[in-house]
Amino acid sequence: HDERTFVMAKPDAVQRGLTGEIVSRLETRGLKLAGAKFMQISEELAHEHYAEHEDKPFFDDLVEFITSGPVLAMVWEGADATRQVRQMMGATDPAEAAPGTIRGDFGLDLSQNIIHGSDHEDPGANEREIDLFFDDEELVSYERAD
Ligand code: CMP
Repeated sequence: HDERTFVMAKPDAVQRGLTGEIVSRLETRGLKLAGAKFMQISEELAHEHYAEHEDKPFFDDLVEFITSGPVLAMVWEGADATRQVRQMMGATDPAEAAPGTIRGDFGLDLSQNIIHGSDHEDPGANEREIDLFFDDEELVSYERAD
């Protein structure tokens, strides 16, 4: 079934010029871009987005990093899109991520791991994150030829 999922190229991806590579990988895999926003995340938005990690020891570092520079926030659409993106991203820790995955190829460490994608094991996480970053009218429906 087609679904939408939230994906974000983190500040390290922007700094290192990897946003195009990320878009390209998702695009050529057949996923469809439904929305995109190049933006600076506020402290408040960072707290909301990472609310589930609020009690973790790395929470302050996480907020500091994700607000340290612009990100490319995106919505991607496709069959099983959430799980598919997670597979293409690889493990959270780049040291554990398989070669060929985005983090396995470009990630530096647990914090500078290039990309965020909605958790496929947390039902509703994709919708929640999309709603947090995008208004309905910012998302586009269209046919892709492939
Ligand atoms: P992300 O998918 O954006 O969701 C939570 C983030 O916490 C995760 O990617 C990591 O980048 C970040 N993080 C930083 N330190 C840790 C840590 N020690 N354990 C797990 N996640 C961490």
